[in-house]
Amino acid sequence: MKHLVTLKDWSSEEILQVLDLADELKREPSKYYDTMHRKVLVMIFEKPSLRTRVSFETGMCQMGGDAIYYDMSTSPLGSGKENIHDTIKVLSRYADIVMARLFSHASLEEMVKYGSIPVINGLTNYTHPCQILADLQTVREHKGALKGLTLAYLGDAFNNVTHSLLFGCAKVGMNIRVGCPAGKEYSPDPQVLADAQAFGAISGAEVRLTHDAAEAVKGADVVYTDSWMSYHIPEAELDARVRVFRPYQVNAELMAHANKEAIFMNCLPAIRGYEQTAEVMDGPQSVVFDEVENRLHMHKAVMVHLLNQA
Ligand code: CP
Ligand code: NVA
Repeated sequence: MKHLVTLKDWSSEEILQVLDLADELKREPSKYYDTMHRKVLVMIFEKPSLRTRVSFETGMCQMGGDAIYYDMSTSPLGSGKENIHDTIKVLSRYADIVMARLFSHASLEEMVKYGSIPVINGLTNYTHPCQILADLQTVREHKGALKGLTLAYLGDAFNNVTHSLLFGCAKVGMNIRVGCPAGKEYSPDPQVLADAQAFGAISGAEVRLTHDAAEAVKGADVVYTDSWMSYHIPEAELDARVRVFRPYQVNAELMAHANKEAIFMNCLPAIRGYEQTAEVMDGPQSVVFDEVENRLHMHKAVMVHLLNQA
């Protein structure tokens, strides 16, 4: 049984295979209209979502299957009346595949351990692999390749998107430079960084951390940022975080350090004036809505890929 828990567990060949499948699903969606006939996806949400929820549900419908939105806050699991083991065992008797967006990554791993259907990580505090697969598809579309390019990530780096970018870029041979404030609360998990460096040593990708935003962006082909206020960060931390992250804001001045042809990416949701300015987000280098669209094609590809091996 195959799952999508983190890109750390997927080989570079498997990542590239799913990227190719997502390209095909984008080019020829009608070939897959009946692929999920009578299949059911359960989508468990403990955190909010626009893109992940709607693209998975749309993707399943477009391939002839059905998707059930399951809100944890109104579930026996959410109220502590039922544990995660029993929940996934129950779902395994009804559904064909599960996608879960949870706070705890350990809970997702428990679903894998106790369930008997494929489990997809729809975001945990630790990683967001679906997003990064769609992002790699987007980079390849715009740049024609992945290997040898350089991606600069700016801002909050103790972060699910950063962790998955580190795994994803290192696996496919894309250099990655993370520019973030000093301090472990803003920097990638040291184990993730070490793993990414080890994957990079195999693929030829350079994996680097710096606290200098301009140095991170210098000559980059892709400039990427994510929310300073991820879903799990308490609102009370807003003012302090805005002060800490301000030097890493992606604005026109910072973009000028990147390659002339560089693209700007953000997984969204985004706040103009925080992690990037409106001129960058809505400017000609921004590909944020291509990333959004590719979530749909990529989620379809991930479901086809996993159910083919179930
Ligand atoms: N990028 C992303 O995962 O968006 P949602 O939180 O809207 O699903
Ligand atoms: N880092 C962000 C990603 C949102 C898609 C968060 O966890 O909220």
